[in-house]
Amino acid sequence: MKLLIINGPNLGNIGRREPEIYGHEDFEPYLESLKKEFPEHEIHYFQSHHEGEIVEKIHSAKGENYDGIILNAGAYSHTSYSIRDAVAAINIPVVMVHISNVYARENFRHENVIAAKCKGVITGFGLRSYELAVRSFAG
Ligand code: DQA
Repeated sequence: MKLLIINGPNLGNIGRREPEIYGHEDFEPYLESLKKEFPEHEIHYFQSHHEGEIVEKIHSAKGENYDGIILNAGAYSHTSYSIRDAVAAINIPVVMVHISNVYARENFRHENVIAAKCKGVITGFGLRSYELAVRSFAG
């Protein structure tokens, strides 16, 4: 399968950002290990701090023949109706992931305005949340 991982704002420095919450592992080496673990999948990666760029990437995924999107929209998960609308506008399944368990954190993180348009949500398994999301596409 051709899969696209999209990471939103503040997810470019995982491993150094609040490691007590997000762990000590950098995302890029984790991504390489993920690709090695799933050689049968073609896994692409995009990260942006900008809402509009994420919206554009979701729309362009349609023309790029992706079978699925794994989306960690960061704090936009709690606020972005434009990313929600973009997810709703494409007919590619989107699995939302969070590294941390957002339900064990501040109240504002309990609201997710994008999740209802996603196939499912995986939250709280550290970087392993991405691996579980990849597996969810295989079944
Ligand atoms: C996050 C959770 C969000 O609440 C937060 O704003 C992030 C990361 C996670 O992966 O746990 O940036 O999406």
